[in-house]
Amino acid sequence: TIVILDFGSQYTQLIARRIREFNVFSVVLPCTTPLDQIKALAPMGLVLSGGPNSVYDPDAPAADPALLKMDVPILGICYGLQFIVHHLGGKVESAAQREYGHASVEVIRETKLFAGLPGTLDVWMSHGDHAVALPPGFERTAETANAVAGIADEDRRIWAVQFHPEVAHTRQGMELLRNFALDICGCEANWTPEHFIQTTIERVKAQVGTGHAICGLSGGVDSSVAAVLVARAIGDRLTCIFVNNGVLRKDEFAKVHATMREQLGLNVVAVDAADRFLTKLAGVTDPETKRKVIGGEFISVFDDEAKKIFEAEKSAGEEIAWLVQGTLYPDVIESSSVKGPSQTIKSHHNVGGLPADMKLKLIEPLRDLFKDEVRRIGRDLGMPDEIIERQPFPGPGLAVRILGEVTAERVAILQEADAIVVEEIKAAGLYRKVWQSFAVLLPVKSVGVMGDQRTYANTCAIRAVESEDGMTADWAPLPYEVLRKISSRIVSEVRGINRVVYDITSKPPGTIEWE
Ligand code: XMP
Repeated sequence: TIVILDFGSQYTQLIARRIREFNVFSVVLPCTTPLDQIKALAPMGLVLSGGPNSVYDPDAPAADPALLKMDVPILGICYGLQFIVHHLGGKVESAAQREYGHASVEVIRETKLFAGLPGTLDVWMSHGDHAVALPPGFERTAETANAVAGIADEDRRIWAVQFHPEVAHTRQGMELLRNFALDICGCEANWTPEHFIQTTIERVKAQVGTGHAICGLSGGVDSSVAAVLVARAIGDRLTCIFVNNGVLRKDEFAKVHATMREQLGLNVVAVDAADRFLTKLAGVTDPETKRKVIGGEFISVFDDEAKKIFEAEKSAGEEIAWLVQGTLYPDVIESSSVKGPSQTIKSHHNVGGLPADMKLKLIEPLRDLFKDEVRRIGRDLGMPDEIIERQPFPGPGLAVRILGEVTAERVAILQEADAIVVEEIKAAGLYRKVWQSFAVLLPVKSVGVMGDQRTYANTCAIRAVESEDGMTADWAPLPYEVLRKISSRIVSEVRGINRVVYDITSKPPGTIEWE
C-alpha cells in the first residue's frame, strides 16, 4: 500500500488513481491522521500531496512533522515538497512570480525518481511559494528558469517535486510515479480486478455467513456492480429492490429489470411505484423540494418492500441482517477530508436510509474503488456494456430535468426527447466520449409552424458535457450534424415540443443539471 496524505489539493484523488493504474493499491488519508494510524497500515511508501495553503501560514493544516521520520520512502508533491523543506530546516517563501500551467523542467541530477526520464520534463505547475534554502542533506535535482523543481535526500529516502506528476499535462508523470511506487518503494503490482473480485467475494462470504441481504438497485453502474459482487458471494440470499419512481427514462423500468434478472441472474423484486411518486410530486416546482419528496418517498417504498421480504424470510426461519450499498471511495475520502465535506450545492441522495426498525448492517463492497475501477470490475464480472458504460443519471431522475411541475404528461414528453438524444449520441459514437448528454424540458412555450399549422408548444434544451468526475465540466462541442439530427427528430417525432435549444454553459458557473 502507498499512503497519500492529503493536504487539500484538488488533485489528491488523482494521485491515488494514477498509482492504482499500474495496479498498486493506494489510499488517501487526511494529512492530520495520527502517526500510529498511518503506521498501522504498514505502508510501503508515503506521498505528501499538494495543497492550497502556505507551509508557514498559521492556519496551514496541522500534519505531524514526525511523519518525515517514518522509515519508508517519501515523495512530496508541490505543497508536499514545501512541507518537507519547511520542517527539515530549509526555507520556503512566497515567490515573486507564481508558476501556473505548463513549464519546462531541467533534470540536473540523476536520482531513482527520474530514472529513465529525459533530461527535460514537460510538467504542470501550480504554486505561489517556492523553496529558497534546502534542508541539510538535500540536493537540488531539477529546476525551472525561476525556481527549484525537484529535491532529494536519497540516504534518507525522501524525494520531492514542485510540479504535479499526477496531472495528465505532466507528460512523464506516470513514469515518475511508477519509479516511486514500484522501484523505490518496491510495491507489487497486484491490485488487479481479479484480485479485488476474489478477495471481496471471500470477505462478503465471511461477513454475511448464512445471513440474508437486501440491496436497492438504481439501474446505474455502482449499485449493479455492488449487487453482482455480493450475489457472487451469497447467491439468492441477496434480494434486490428496483423501484420505478415514475421519473426513469423511457422503457427503463422494464429494460433494466430484464437485464438484471436475465443477464445478471440477480434476484430482483421490481416495484412499480410511479403513481405514488407522481402523486407526491403534484404541484411541486422547487428543485430541492422535488429531491426531498423523491428521496423521502423512495425510503418509504423501499421500507415497505424490505419489510415484506423481511416478514417472508422470518416465517422461513431466516433473517435479513445486511444492506448492500454502492458507496464509492471518493465519498469515503470526502467524508473524512481535512477540508470537511465540500459544500453540497444540491442535496444529492441515491439510496434511502435504512429501514429504521430493522437495524441492518452495511456491506459496501465498492468503498475502496474509484468510478473507473468500478467499471473495470464490472467488465471483469462479465456485465454488459449497456450497464457498465452508462452515463451517470441523477437519483431524482427526470424530475430535475422537467423545470416546473412534474406531471405524467410532461414526463412522457421528456422521455421521448431524451430517448432521441441518447440514440443519436450513440449513433454518432459520442456516448462514451461525453460525460452526460440529455434533454431538459423547459416551462417555456413558443410559437412555431408545422405544415400550414401554427403551433404553440414546449421548448426543450439539449445538454451535453465533457467531464472527468462531474465536479467541473465543459459544454461539449457536439458536431452541428448531430445537433441538427437531434433537433429535427425531436420536433417532428415528439408531440408537445416545437423548439430545441442547445445549452453552452460550462460548470462552473453552471451546474450540469438544470435544477
Ligand atoms: P450538478 O448538476 O450538481 O451535477 O452539476 C453533478 C452530477 O451529479 C448528478 N446529480 C445528482 N445525482 N442525485 C444524484 O444522485 C441528485 O439529486 C443529483 N443532482 C445532480 C448530475 O447528474 C451530475 O452527474
